[in-house]
Parts: sequence; structure tokens; C-alpha cells
Amino acid sequence: MKKLFLLVAGILATTSMHLAAQNDRIEQRVDSVLHLMTLQEKIGQLVLYTSDWDVTGPTMRKGYINDIKNGNCGNIFNAHSVNYVRKLQEIAVNDTRLHIPLLFGYDVIHGYKTIFPIPLGEAATWDLFQIQRSAHVAAEEAAAAGVNWTYAPMCDITVDPRWGRVMEGAGEDPYLGSKIAAARVHGFQGIHNDLADTSTILACVKHFAGYGAPIGGRDYNTVDMSERTFRDVYLPPYLAAIKAGAMSVMSAFNELNGVPCTENKWLLTDILRKEAGFKGFVVSDYNSVEELINHGVAADGKQAAEIAINAGLDMDMQSTLYQKYLKQLVEEGKVSEATIDDAVRRVLRVKFMLGLFDHPYLYCNNAREKRVIESPANMKAAYEEAQRSLVLLKNAHDVLPLTKGDKIAVIGQLAASSNDLLGAWRADGDTIGVPNLLDAMRKYNGRNNIIYAEGCEKEGYNRSGFPAAIAAAKKADKIVLVIGEDCDWTGEASSRANIKVPGVQTELLAKLTALHKPIVVVLMNGRPLDLSREDTLADAILETWYAGSRGAAAITSVLFGEYNPSGKLPITFPRCIGQVPLFYYEKNTGRPIYLPDPKYKSRYIDCPNTPLFPFGFGLSYTTFHFSGITLSSDRLYPNDSIQASVTVTNTGKREGEEVVQLYIHDLVADVTRPVKQLKGFQKIALQPGESKTVTFTIKPSMLAFYRLDMTYGTEPGKFDLFIGDSSNHVNQTSFTLEK
Ligand code: NOJ
Repeated sequence: MKKLFLLVAGILATTSMHLAAQNDRIEQRVDSVLHLMTLQEKIGQLVLYTSDWDVTGPTMRKGYINDIKNGNCGNIFNAHSVNYVRKLQEIAVNDTRLHIPLLFGYDVIHGYKTIFPIPLGEAATWDLFQIQRSAHVAAEEAAAAGVNWTYAPMCDITVDPRWGRVMEGAGEDPYLGSKIAAARVHGFQGIHNDLADTSTILACVKHFAGYGAPIGGRDYNTVDMSERTFRDVYLPPYLAAIKAGAMSVMSAFNELNGVPCTENKWLLTDILRKEAGFKGFVVSDYNSVEELINHGVAADGKQAAEIAINAGLDMDMQSTLYQKYLKQLVEEGKVSEATIDDAVRRVLRVKFMLGLFDHPYLYCNNAREKRVIESPANMKAAYEEAQRSLVLLKNAHDVLPLTKGDKIAVIGQLAASSNDLLGAWRADGDTIGVPNLLDAMRKYNGRNNIIYAEGCEKEGYNRSGFPAAIAAAKKADKIVLVIGEDCDWTGEASSRANIKVPGVQTELLAKLTALHKPIVVVLMNGRPLDLSREDTLADAILETWYAGSRGAAAITSVLFGEYNPSGKLPITFPRCIGQVPLFYYEKNTGRPIYLPDPKYKSRYIDCPNTPLFPFGFGLSYTTFHFSGITLSSDRLYPNDSIQASVTVTNTGKREGEEVVQLYIHDLVADVTRPVKQLKGFQKIALQPGESKTVTFTIKPSMLAFYRLDMTYGTEPGKFDLFIGDSSNHVNQTSFTLEK
């Protein structure tokens, strides 16, 4: 044993010595290139332009090819596929004086060509293996198509379902969000952050910071919050991604407490570099340097460039202002050449790490592109993750699973849509070879056993298809109604003021219930919706998000019980829009809802405080029993730990998976603390009748927070500890943190 330990320690020491030597070598090479560069060439490395292959923002410009040739643009995004990337790389390598290769960025968010569930759906798996694997497959495919830099993971916490980009993140919780952020970085960059490996790409942590909290849920809007909330809730996932090794960060469009993130020195330099020790580079969001003028913090483009670079914003995406003004700003002494050098150093460092200086065409291998993209193994991974992302919200009288051979009316426009399954931000994903839910259900259950009618469209008020839908339903034993949002109603610039199921889809549901047949609602959507009405009308509700290239087969497998659903909500579903923002880690207030007084407490007079479906919630086709909590001690000492255990038993008739969730509440502190905070989770699989004991180790560091004086640490005292199957269904005990 001792020998093995020494061997492992020896290997680790050798690896870290090797890495240190490699890093030193990279720094020497960066300096030697920098030494040769003119100011103009340096500035070129700080410029990023979109190619015309894809449109992901409002301003397009021609001429990027000339900019590459002239050394004015060192980085390109929205260009992909080996042949095109090679063509652009050849220009940089052959036609520029110093032959510096380009970076190729792309929004590879939930898959490159093989599309996985949208990130909010991935988060609903609570399965870090699946999430890491999905990012890895995305990286492998993107790298095979010439891309070496993804604009992911998005680490923006949000508690506002109106915000369209809620689909792109991991939901409302800082702990779950941090775990997922790290898993995604490891998936993209590899667990050893070996960027030169041809199956990895550079990750980009975005949108730094606080982008998920715009006032009113309106995209790009003002963000205003206390530093305490920012540090306790919003900052952790970004920092977790950086700690996991992400080497680039994208600044956010929004302002934070009066200072736009694009020129926010506190964020980009103090927090990111000084506090978090980040060594990579920061890129702006699309044209956000120029948008500093609209924010009203720069009078013109020149001033915008000046305040952005001086704040620590290394690379300008698309605004052209670095290209236009940085040279002049240096000559006028408004920006020091040392600032430019630091920024260039960070960009070159990453290019070296990616192996681009040694092999500029490392990511340009036609044979690999053919072999890797949409391989059967990748599709299988997408299918498996999609199964685990589905959340069963309701299942009255066990109407689900359906039985093979049942006559089923499948109704709804979304049932026949492959396009929506892919969701927003689908990179190079397309509908070719992507079966829709109707195809998949027909394949599984036999064409004759599925009767389809569109019923109505996803949006709009046309009811002319209702009679045909009712006629179809009359012929069937059971009804599966597929409703939700068009996938373009989520994502960037797709905020909603209303979070009900759009159009007349719910009206159709109400009409169908008059037939008194079992009715299952399958939801496709990218945000928490107000499902109050659907909840009263439907027997079962299955949340499927946008489940990706193999989503249809995955949904079918859950509907028919081939896979027992195991997803849990990563975000609260409110009862109505008026409750928003609603999240489980709220504070008690001075007049909490549990007070006996009927009137003077924090509540609505026309709606309960509770959500319709809480964070962490999701049903299964089997049942689980949780024992009481056993603590190894009810006293926790500094530098020590205690164990909290529960035994979970599968009390139903089917094999199933459960997510065992640990929450903690600090009862008395110098600043108010949330009523519950997720501090751990484990997903376990149990056969019928089987029991497993799940143990969490509680350490003092898990109890730390930003105290009254804004130092980070713990305060001794009593804590409640909860373990359960969702944030509102838990067993409880308590312990004391001693001095
Ligand atoms: C704007 C989006 O906010 C960002 O997430 C994305 O990476 C860039 N456009 C590039 O497409």
C-alpha cells in the first residue's frame, strides 16, 4: 500500500514538474513572439471578428479576410468546418509577417452537430458524468470541424423565467451551478486541461458577471444587486469554472451596479485576476465595447476602447474600436503599451497552449471531421443524457407509463417538429436525421396505434384544428398532448413578459379533458412556465425541455416506461408570473409566512407563497423511502468534519434513480441567511426493495458566507440540516458548529 502511495505521489510530482516546465517554456515563447511584434500587430491579436457563416449578433461586416491578411484580426468566430477554417488559417499563417495562427471561436453550447438537451435540461439530470460527457462530445466534434474555442459554459445564475437565456444555464442554484460549470469546463478542456489534445477546445466562462439578473427579466437590462448577494449567489459558478481551468472569460452585456461589465475594472481585474488568479484572457461580448456609448459611460468609440482596455478587457468582439483606436490611444499616452502587452501575452499564451503555433492546422483534419461528427457513439450519449433530463412533474393514477399497443392520440404542432427539439444555440445542428416525437412514437408503438392531429399551432389563436384533434382523441385510449414554446422563444433576445403556455394550446387541453380519457401533457419549453392551469387539467405532465437530436426517442422511452424518469428541476416553477422572482433559498424576513397572525406577514393575498413545482422536484415511476438522518456527531469543530447519513429504499416495483439532496440552514448569524441552501447531492440507482445508505461529509468550509464585514468565513452556532428528494420534501436534524 505504502509503495503504491509513493508511486502515485511520484507520478503526480513528476507530472506537476513537467507541467511547470511546460508553462515556463510557453511563457518564454510568448515573450519571444511579443518581442518581435509591432504595436499594430499586437493590437491585431486583440481583435475578434465574425465570419459571414453564421449570424449571432446585430452588426455584420465584410472585409474580415483582408483584416486577417493585414494582421489586423487575430481571431475569428462563427467559421467552422475543416475546409473553411483551413482556408482562413492559411491566410493568417502564410500571408502575415509573423505567421501567428488564428483562434476559431463558436457558440458550441449543447453540442456541435450532435445536439444534446439544452443546458437547463442537462442541469435537470443532476448527473455530472452526463454533463461532462456532453461537453466532451461537443468539444470533440467542434475540434474535428476546425473550431478551437467555445463560448461556453454560461454560468449565469437566474431566478427569473422571463429571461430568455434561462435555457442556456444551469438554473437558480449556486452550488449546483458551480458543480455543473466545473463539469462543463472539464468536458470541453479535458480533466487535465490539455488544450493541445485534438479532442478538447478552449472554454469561455460567460457572461461575466450577473447577466442572469436583468431587471424585469428583459435581456441586456440593468443589473443592480448588493455585493453580498453577488458574491454569495451569482459569483460562485463563474469562479468554479475558472478554478476548473477555463482559460477565457466573456464579459457580460449588462451593467452591474452602475458600471457596464465591459469596462468594469472591479470585475475584470480585481475579482478575476487579483482574487481568482485567472491567467487567461477576457473577450467582450458581441459589439459590447461600442455599446458603452449607449450605456452612457463613453462619449465616443475612442473613449469606449480606452475604458474597456484599461479595465482589463483584452479582446474586442466585433465592435472594430480596438482596431480603430488603440494605436492612437497608446501614442497619446491614454493606454500604456504595457497594458497592450499584458493583453496580447494572455492571448498568445492560450494560442500556445492550444498547440496552434506548432501545428496551425491541428484542428483541420478532413478524415477526423468525417469520422467524429455525429458518430453513433455521440448520438448514443445524446440519447442517454436526454432520457435523464426529463422531469416527471405529475402522474395522477399512474397514467404513465403508457402501454405498448395502446391506441394513442398524439396531438400538437410540437409533436411533429424536429426543429424545436434542437432548441436555441444549436451550433451546426440541423434537422437532417433528427426524428420528431411523432416519428419516434410511431416507430415504437406501431403506426396504426398512433393517431395524429395538429390541433393548433404553438402560437396564435387559430382554433380551426380543434375538431380534428377531438375526433382523433375520440378514437384513442389515451391522449398525449405536446405543447410548449417555439424554441426561438427562448435564448438570446427572447424574454417574455408572460410565462403561460402560448396561444390556444391550453384551451385545446381543456377541450380534450371533456372526453374523460387519460391525458398526458408533454412539455417542450426552455424556461419555467406558469403551469397552474395545465396542472389542474392534465393527468400527467412530463417536462422535456428541448431534448436534442435524440430527444424524441428518449421521450418515447420514458412515456412507455423503457426508462424510469430521474430528472429533477434545477429551477423553481412558480404558480404565476406575479411570484417571480421565486427561488428556494429565500430569507425568512421579519414576518415569515409561518406566523400565526392571519394578515401581517410576508405573503400574497391572492396566491400562496409556495411554488407550483419546487427546486429539486421530480417524480419517478417507483417510490423511495428516506430514513431519518443519522449524524456521526451533533458537534462540528473547526478543521474537522461530521457525517450525515440517510438510508434510501426503493419501495416500488421498478428499478429507479433518486437524487438525494442535502440542504443546510444557518439559524443565527450576523447577517440574514437563506432558509435552505443546497450543499450536496448524490444520484443513486436502486432495484425494487433495495436500500442504500447515502453519506455526506459536512465540513466547516461548507458553512462559510460573506459576513457582516464582508470577510468570507463561518460563524459558530446552530445549523439545521435537511436531506430529502426535493427542496421542500426533506427530513431534518441539527448540529452545532463549535468555536
Ligand atoms: C452574444 C451572446 O451574448 C454570447 O453569448 C455569444 O457567445 C456571442 N453573441 C457570440 O455569438
